[in-house]
Amino acid sequence: MKPINVGLLGIGTVGGGVFAVLKRNADEITRRAGREIRITAVADKDIERARRHAGGTVKVTDDAFSVTRDSDIDIVVELIGGTAVAKDLVLSAIENGKHVVTANKALLAVHGNEIFAAARRRDVMVAFEAAVAGGIPIIKALREGLSANRIEWVAGIINGTTNFILSEMRSKGLAFGEVLKEAQRLGYAEADPTFDIEGVDAAHKATIMSAIAFGIPMQFDKAHIEGISKLESVDIAYAEQLGYRIKLLGIARKRQEGIELRVHPALVPASRLIANVEGAMNAVLVQGDAVGATLYYGKGAGAEPTASAVIADLVDITRLHTADPEHRVPHLAFQPDQMRDVPVLPIGETLTSYYLRMRVLDQPGVLADITRILADSQISIDAMVQHEADEGESQTDIILLTHQTIEKNADAAIARIESLDSVLGKVTRLRLEEL
Ligand code: HSE
Repeated sequence: MKPINVGLLGIGTVGGGVFAVLKRNADEITRRAGREIRITAVADKDIERARRHAGGTVKVTDDAFSVTRDSDIDIVVELIGGTAVAKDLVLSAIENGKHVVTANKALLAVHGNEIFAAARRRDVMVAFEAAVAGGIPIIKALREGLSANRIEWVAGIINGTTNFILSEMRSKGLAFGEVLKEAQRLGYAEADPTFDIEGVDAAHKATIMSAIAFGIPMQFDKAHIEGISKLESVDIAYAEQLGYRIKLLGIARKRQEGIELRVHPALVPASRLIANVEGAMNAVLVQGDAVGATLYYGKGAGAEPTASAVIADLVDITRLHTADPEHRVPHLAFQPDQMRDVPVLPIGETLTSYYLRMRVLDQPGVLADITRILADSQISIDAMVQHEADEGESQTDIILLTHQTIEKNADAAIARIESLDSVLGKVTRLRLEEL
């Protein structure tokens, strides 16, 4: 059978990986796909770099739209990133009847509803395995492998940069700023690390997972996003003393009232497998009503891990592109007319447990005042630590772990605790997920 022709937009690290893996594993990939998958055109602003990767037989251009319009191309792979030109290119490819493979989480989280609607109108596939957790086939698992289940929640370590930083902070007892510099030196963090460290990248991925787990539209603008830049190493150390690790989690959880969609640092029991995912690795835990918990672990970034996901999408499309569009796997796992507009809950409605650290005067009645406020708010205490005050010190830290409560209830209790004369400064509050 004649090869399927692919046009690649953007040939940075991942594009290079796609070339390398397609070449190295050509026989195996063809045996699986049923025909050869061949990159026949590459667009990149850096023509020389594109030529180096692509070799002599591939068309190289700096005009990406010429690839999306090229009648010889069957599938366009978008590896440019961002939400500006990438969106125009993906929509142009779709309008020209091309199937699309993209690793672009920001594009799908922000403009996915529009892109998938356009793809349905033109009967083309938009595949995005590489957009979430790099080489881990989590999209495949959620869309297909778990399709018997009511998915209850998904919780993932889906940003390698922040997981690397948190691992280093814990193992070396270093402050966030110091580790960030080291991560940048080692190439784990970008020169501008904002999207990673402030949780935006993880929120893009959590948004995509929420859509395919629950059959809801992408609602990135409703996601609650907190990063790790304000996290203090003292809390990592206290959490460890209490048997927990702090991880940046992307969580999508279905409750009767709506969907929780949130990214923030959270305490996770150290005994959980996911708590032991260290360094730049990713892991996603999915709770289904039939299967129970399943855990997916692997490299969330890098040339060949991401290429692995991109090529898996190319194989899927190659197998399915002649099938009746009605018989393909729906973009967001659920049939388009079965998508539900379930609301994403405001963060104040989140149901979770809390870690509270407060600096207090070491004098009679302080603990009683604090626990009275929690009791008045129906917040039950799960564990508590108070160290002896240092010699000559009249202040000490109290750390409390609570049982589950609604966040606005916890916030109100914290405000009352902060108003006590015996409590000094702000209460540090972190969410705790038993998972
Ligand atoms: N910057 C991401 C990470 C990888 O650190 O995991 C690409 O999404």
